[in-house]
Amino acid sequence: MSSKIIVVGSMNMDMVVKTSHIPQPGETVLGGSFFMNPGGKGANQAIAVARLGGNVAFVGKIGDDIFGKQSSQLFDEEGVDTNGILSDHDSPSGIALITVDEHGENSIVVAPGANAHLEPADVERVLEKYPDSKILLMQLEIPMRTVEFAAQHAREKGMQVILNPAPANELVPGVFHLVDILTPNVNEAEMLSGIRIADTASARKAAEAIQAQGVKHVIITLGKDGAALLEEGGLFYHIPAPIVETVDTTAAGDVFNGALAVAMAEGKVLTDATAFACRAASIAVTKMGAQSSIPFRNEVLLHSMK
Ligand code: RIB
Repeated sequence: MSSKIIVVGSMNMDMVVKTSHIPQPGETVLGGSFFMNPGGKGANQAIAVARLGGNVAFVGKIGDDIFGKQSSQLFDEEGVDTNGILSDHDSPSGIALITVDEHGENSIVVAPGANAHLEPADVERVLEKYPDSKILLMQLEIPMRTVEFAAQHAREKGMQVILNPAPANELVPGVFHLVDILTPNVNEAEMLSGIRIADTASARKAAEAIQAQGVKHVIITLGKDGAALLEEGGLFYHIPAPIVETVDTTAAGDVFNGALAVAMAEGKVLTDATAFACRAASIAVTKMGAQSSIPFRNEVLLHSMK
């Protein structure tokens, strides 16, 4: 079995409505079907790791309610180690209100609930249980102080740190130097670099500006255009993604990050790991929902033979 991947992050219940278009401020839209589906960027990434063949433990906080119970039950069924899931008796589980338009683009509002109370001390207690883990994967739906602490702790233990800076937020300056691989999407990369991304050349400039802040490797996810990878030392690659029909982009970034972590844990080089992640994410966008869209390893392997 490949080395253990620890995902520290959020767990939400997603409430999803299909609609012709995403409402403007003040507008009411009569939407289509509604469904609930476990989500949260952290939880989605952990499920992606498990389905893609990785050995994963999740660290996060849920409320003492039905949504928290449903999400952690699903983790058990998926083979995610749930010993790091903590319960907060004073806050509800996180929820996300999601609208998906006819082009598969989404708009999401998250009420973080218990996710906002995942503290550095919680993470420290859990990480002590996994002294041999090699990779830490995080996002930004938990407090920044917890992200910074976990990255520092992981660095001291010699773990590789992958940070998906989503949703878009400023990073505290101390975090950049603790990150081995930073994986912003276009919006997040524009915010972190101050450079507008319109093509591969501007993606490279943005990646260079982010790397200059202290990150080792930068991978900017470009949606249907794949990913831009800037390695430590300055080697730059544009990795294409397979062409697919997009139904819903929700959790595509999460699948990308889970797949990337799996490939790195297996010892793949960054270019191959990024290509694997692009293939996995391209399958996710062909299905509705967050965890309902996460592919299994066989699907990705079959997809790559087409
Ligand atoms: O990345 C998709 C996720 O973002 C959704 O599952 C939702 O819960 C929000 O966290």
